[in-house]
Amino acid sequence: MASINVALLGVGFMGRAHSNAWGQVGKFFPAPVTPVMHTVFGQEAEKPEAFAANWGWKHAATDWQAVVKDPQIGLVDVATPNFMHAPPARAAMEAGKAVACEKPIAGTLSDAREMAQTARKLQAKTFVWYNYRRCPAVAFARQLVQEGKLGTIRHVRALYLQDWADENVPLLWRFEKQWAGSGAHGDLNAHIVDMTRFVTGQEITEVSGAIAETFIKERTIPAGAATGGIAEGRKGGGGKGPVTVDDTVLFLARFSGGAVASFEAARQATGNLNRNGFELNGTKGSLRFNFERMNELEYYDATLPRGVQGWSTLMCTHGADHPYVGNWWPDAHLIGYEHGFTNMASDILKVLAGQPPLVPIPDFEDAYQTQRVLEAALLSAQECRAIKLEEVK
Ligand SMILES: NC(=O)c1ccc[n+]([C@@H]2O[C@H](COP(=O)([O-])OP(=O)(O)OC[C@H]3O[C@@H](n4cnc5c(N)ncnc54)[C@H](O)[C@@H]3O)[C@@H](O)[C@H]2O)c1
Repeated sequence: MASINVALLGVGFMGRAHSNAWGQVGKFFPAPVTPVMHTVFGQEAEKPEAFAANWGWKHAATDWQAVVKDPQIGLVDVATPNFMHAPPARAAMEAGKAVACEKPIAGTLSDAREMAQTARKLQAKTFVWYNYRRCPAVAFARQLVQEGKLGTIRHVRALYLQDWADENVPLLWRFEKQWAGSGAHGDLNAHIVDMTRFVTGQEITEVSGAIAETFIKERTIPAGAATGGIAEGRKGGGGKGPVTVDDTVLFLARFSGGAVASFEAARQATGNLNRNGFELNGTKGSLRFNFERMNELEYYDATLPRGVQGWSTLMCTHGADHPYVGNWWPDAHLIGYEHGFTNMASDILKVLAGQPPLVPIPDFEDAYQTQRVLEAALLSAQECRAIKLEEVK
């Protein structure tokens, strides 16, 4: 396979991030398969032709069903709201295409289960855009854990805090259960569940102590289409509607290797703009990551003599040692948010060419495991009890 025609569904925030990745990947990575930016789907009001012209897509379309069945398309890239993941993913797999889908894999556990089952049955190549795995510092953290630098991990502390969702933000799809499935939980906890599963190499076996809250119970119904950020550009259109998802979900968990964990996701954690991170404490050392300083990883080596132990800040920009950055810039010529997506596009192309990705890439089955953890937390919050993961199928 020398090249593959890609169809992108969605022209919002992720539509832009993915378009940038498909456009950049062949310039920075030796792509074993050339991605051709064939068709982009957007809703009529979004003027997908202008989006296509700006980002370099050859064609624009307003009928996603025709796009996913188009025999010329080899890879369907799903960047629509969560309720719109399963229908196009299923149709694309049935038409024999590979599918790259945004996270969370779906708004509901039943959609996620069905997507994983269909992928298994049809042996479809599937990928889920848990892009933070491909942040060099995060991929390097996993490597250090695998090398035994932390010893046995006892504590996992994960949080993803944002503060964009005050009363002035209208009732976007992100605030409605029918479109999103959940709020900060599926949006943010999804990332840190995936990231900590990835870095520790362990599964979550039990969830307890979950608490969910919706602080702002109704919002103004919006007017206008997506503009490419989380909430920018959409004014209230008049009238109010109920918010049907959480603003925050916190929970505790146990990992298969014996560690205990806490997870926190929030959209109104004032002063935390995009604080996505974790701290792992092991018998031989600790690691700390905060995406707001994404080029850095903090490491505490507890095997050094006690008098010289202390946190050190590793600048994860050394191409010879740190994953992915060798394809970008020299030491400390920093990379940013968009690079994780391009790194992921590179790994998707490797898998499509039959090569291993640089670090494991989540497929539908893997993302379904993350969705089970999210579901367990919602059950724990509703029923005020500990939930064993084996209860959640
Ligand atoms: N990986 C990440 O870090 C990350 C970040 C943000 C969003 N996401 C995920 O990406 C997906 C899209 O989020 P976004 O922020 O780009 O949203 P967005 O609102 O900016 O864009 C969504 C796009 O989907 C399309 N769309 C909207 N409603 C539709 C409908 N009813 N039918 C068909 N198409 C419709 C439109 O083209 C719209 O532009 C979500 O699943 C979200 O969870 C992932």
